[in-house]
Amino acid sequence: MEILVINGPNINMLGIREPEIYGNFTMGDIEVELIEYASQFEGVHLEFFQSNSEGEIVSKIQEAIGEKDGIIINPAAYTHTSVAILDAIKAVKIPTVEVHLSNPETREEFRKTSFITSACIGKVAGFKQDSYKMALFGLYNYLKNE
Ligand code: DQA
Repeated sequence: MEILVINGPNINMLGIREPEIYGNFTMGDIEVELIEYASQFEGVHLEFFQSNSEGEIVSKIQEAIGEKDGIIINPAAYTHTSVAILDAIKAVKIPTVEVHLSNPETREEFRKTSFITSACIGKVAGFKQDSYKMALFGLYNYLKNE
C-alpha cells in the first residue's frame, strides 16, 4: 500500500515556527515517528513530500495517479485558499485525508474555511504530530476494506 504524505508551506519550519501553537518537534521528527508507527501495518510504504509552492503540490498530486493508493495532506496555509489543490485531489480520485497539527476551527476566522475538506474521505486536526498517525490509521483501514 503506497501512501503519499504531503506537507505544504512552512511545515518545514516546524521547531522554529510558533512553538506555542505547533510544538517544538520538526518535520523530520514527524516523518520518523510516522515511519515507526506505519511499521505495524502490513505492506505500508510512505513517501514524504514538502513544498512551499502551490503548483509543485498540484503536480505531485497529479503524478500520484497509478502510483499511490492514498494521500495524507497537510495543505497548511493553502487549506484556506487553494481551489487548485482541491481540484487536483478531485481529479486524481485517490482517497485523501486532510491533516492539521492545530485545530484551525478554533483559531482566526480565515482559518475556519477549508477549500480541501470536500474532496477528502476524512480529516484529523488538533493533535499535533499524532494527527498524522490518526490519519494513517484511518486511511489504512479505509483502503484495506475498499
Ligand atoms: C496548519 C493550519 C493552517 O491554518 C496553517 O496555515 C498552517 C498549519 C496546521 O497544521 O495546523 O500552516 O495546517
